[in-house]
Amino acid sequence: MAAERPAEAAGLAAASMPSGLFSPEGPDLVVHADNASVLPGLPGGAFTMVYIDPPFNTGRVQKRQELSMVRNADGDRTGFSGQRYETVKGALHRYDDAFRDYWSFLEPRLMEAWRVLADDGTLYLHLDYREVHYAKVMLDAIFGRDCFLNEIIWAYDYGARTKRRWPTKHDNILVYVKDPSAYHFDSAEVDREPYMAPGLVTPEKRELGKLPTDVWWHTIVSPTGREKTGYPTQKPEGLVRRMVAASSRPGDWVLDFFAGSGTLGAVAQRLGRRFVCVDENPQAVEIMAGRLPSARVVKV
Ligand SMILES: C[S@@+](CC[C@H](N)C(=O)[O-])C[C@H]1O[C@@H](n2cnc3c(N)ncnc32)[C@H](O)[C@@H]1O
Repeated sequence: MAAERPAEAAGLAAASMPSGLFSPEGPDLVVHADNASVLPGLPGGAFTMVYIDPPFNTGRVQKRQELSMVRNADGDRTGFSGQRYETVKGALHRYDDAFRDYWSFLEPRLMEAWRVLADDGTLYLHLDYREVHYAKVMLDAIFGRDCFLNEIIWAYDYGARTKRRWPTKHDNILVYVKDPSAYHFDSAEVDREPYMAPGLVTPEKRELGKLPTDVWWHTIVSPTGREKTGYPTQKPEGLVRRMVAASSRPGDWVLDFFAGSGTLGAVAQRLGRRFVCVDENPQAVEIMAGRLPSARVVKV
């Protein structure tokens, strides 16, 4: 796999995060900033797992720092068929204005996600059914098609049901690894599930439960439960716990640069991982400061 690539090649501005703020020996961090100014300051290869749950492209123009995509002809990687990727991207740009905005927002950040991942690292990108197909093309190009591991479907059962089409009750989580021959994945660390037809398996198997597949049935964060922080887009710890447990080891660093209420940090704290959580929204940072007592909170 490729060697480290300068952040500028991904189109992000040079780091404004003070160098040395992140140190593998330093404290967990909650960073209040636009992630575009934080990512280039993080060292390449430092994180075993990155989970991100960016705002969905709902047709609104995304609030974003202007970023220009600079392709580096001498760059050390082109992903799968750089040529075809540019063609697909051009066609999509012509087709959909809102998409152009979203693509230019997300693409350089995903390139940074690739850069900061360790060689045995894994990216989990949490999206919805409207964005996932575009993002799959983007990640095939950035990581390489052979680095695609899974598309996890998070199925839930909440809210109104339209009668005009099949009610949409799932999110999509794309999983990519930096190196398909060297990634860390420990299924033994994952909480198992009850069998759907327990009468058809042996008592031993029933007792042990079964390994989750790529379809995860999980309730949303309960509006009255202990886990609720009040942050509107908060994701359940149970979902993120599976990802962290399988794709990192105790003591490894994990990163969420669209962190919201800090679900990744909360799980990391409980499972003995180190974490960096970044969000630009002051309310998110306030919630994280209360939820993640092990972290140093910094504003960049
Ligand atoms: C869907 S929420 C994440 C929710 C999170 N997974 C949780 O469980 O609470 C997306 C977050 O991205 C943040 N965000 C959007 N653009 C950002 C940017 N450029 N830099 C940093 N954070 C950003 C928003 O403030 C929001 O909190």
